[in-house]
Amino acid sequence: MPVTCKHAEVDYITGCGEAACVGRLWVDPKHRGKGIGTEVMKRIIQEARDAGDRRVKLDAVPLDMDVPYSRLTKFYKRLGFVKVGTNLEGWDTMSLDLKKKVRVVTGHVR
Ligand SMILES: CC(C)(COP(=O)(O)OP(=O)(O)OC[C@H]1O[C@@H](n2cnc3c(N)ncnc32)[C@H](O)[C@@H]1OP(=O)(O)O)[C@@H](O)C(=O)NCCC(=O)NCCS
Repeated sequence: MPVTCKHAEVDYITGCGEAACVGRLWVDPKHRGKGIGTEVMKRIIQEARDAGDRRVKLDAVPLDMDVPYSRLTKFYKRLGFVKVGTNLEGWDTMSLDLKKKVRVVTGHVR
């Protein structure tokens, strides 16, 4: 796994062409709130972009039930993820679109 950090664990797959998948992101409780989870996600997103994936998807399944669910979804929304549905257990499924923005310029060419 290219993303390595001694205080975090994550399962992910990139390079499938359509959607990169992320699961079970976990940061050591002693080191939460320091930006480690954000940095790990940013590196996976960049790797997926480099690999040509069109989006990154995940199920926002809380592994710690003592934290409000809204904090977890806010964490992913800050990275650009949007809710696209719910999984069979009722947790949010979220997706981040990686398609390049196309800039269209119209005008006369002389
Ligand atoms: C969610 C998690 C990966 C975030 O990692 P992190 O390194 O603390 O994240 P960052 O420091 O980059 O960002 C902190 C933000 O994450 C969110 N967050 C979600 N759960 C949190 C938790 N248990 N502790 C601290 N922040 C948490 C908060 O919104 C926080 O933002 P705030 O400071 O505005 O409240 C981490 O809290 C964790 O391992 N949680 C338990 C495992 C889990 O439920 N993983 C989700 C699998 S989909």
